[in-house]
Amino acid sequence: MTPEAAALLAWYDVHKRSMPWRDVGNPYATWVSEIMLQQTRVETVMDYFPRFMEAFPTLADLAQAPEDRVLKLWEGLGYYSRARNLHQGAKQVMAEYGGVLPRDPQALGRIRGIGEYTAGAIASIAYGVPAAAVDGNVIRVISRLRGIRENAATPSVKRRITGEVLSLQPPERPGDFNQALMDLGATVCTPGTPSCEDCPLQGLCDAFAAGDAEDLPLLPDKRPPRLLCWDVLLIRSGGRILVRQRTEAMLKGLWVFPMTEGHPAEKQLPAAVRRLTGLPVKGLRQAGEARHVFTHQIWQMRLWLAAADGDAAPHAPWRFVTEAELQSLALPTAMKAARALAFDPAAWAPLP
Ligand code: ADE
Ligand code: SF4
Repeated sequence: MTPEAAALLAWYDVHKRSMPWRDVGNPYATWVSEIMLQQTRVETVMDYFPRFMEAFPTLADLAQAPEDRVLKLWEGLGYYSRARNLHQGAKQVMAEYGGVLPRDPQALGRIRGIGEYTAGAIASIAYGVPAAAVDGNVIRVISRLRGIRENAATPSVKRRITGEVLSLQPPERPGDFNQALMDLGATVCTPGTPSCEDCPLQGLCDAFAAGDAEDLPLLPDKRPPRLLCWDVLLIRSGGRILVRQRTEAMLKGLWVFPMTEGHPAEKQLPAAVRRLTGLPVKGLRQAGEARHVFTHQIWQMRLWLAAADGDAAPHAPWRFVTEAELQSLALPTAMKAARALAFDPAAWAPLP
């Protein structure tokens, strides 16, 4: 075993974070957890993972579930295409592998929603197969350990980091080694100023010796998220609220209230709603504001209440739903403030 692996695994055996998906010996559970963990913090996943596994205890259960139910269990986690791909992937594993995830990283990588990272994580953690699982934590730790002072976002540096992981990884514990790198990156070798005084790799670390750990990895500036201004309209009729299911790539499959972009003057809003939904409205008034930060966009929202004027039916795909129906639908977190108003009697008084 390399000295790096020996030091890191000895540290992991003491400091390993306890998580409900660790040491369960269930490749399907590893898959679900790794998909959830890709863009979501461990503490949040701790909350969602057990509920998801209770709802879909086996890969076959997930494959058979309706997509709406999968999205409802993912509600609030964000990056919803992860859930839709996981669901499609489960169907694929049923059809192509009799419901058992393959152990070969190449074969794993051909399953819907499983990229190089997830393939390596499942193969190493669930099956003990030697494979790298290079996420942001691993890029940071390896860049510092090996003193990689080139743009870490390029494919060639990513390949180099993958190669370093494979050459350090002990064949007897590939999954623990990968998870030890992730844990070290999350708790010791953190972004900004790392806690090198607590690090088992300190004596082996290039960046520590050079004193430039804080500057690594080198990553290009990210573009700032785009600010979009929306008017979100809560339109009631007979105690029900108007919604539609999104078909756009962003937030596909989730339910939203009518929204128009660009903050037009208040007097232009009823006409905009009518074009969007086919419905005339009355009693329009503003009920608050909300803001939601996505990776590439920030939504600044004005929230409005209005009543449908008359009994005309909305255009497809708009439909009125009851409070109980709204509860059962998956809405994105961006709609949280609007949703809270939808059936709040205090907000609506004295409207219908
Ligand atoms: N982040 C993603 N996968 C992880 C894992 N298995 N352990 C710790 N952090 C992770
Ligand atoms: Fe990271 Fe510091 Fe450990 Fe090097 S010594 S791996 S920079 S925490």
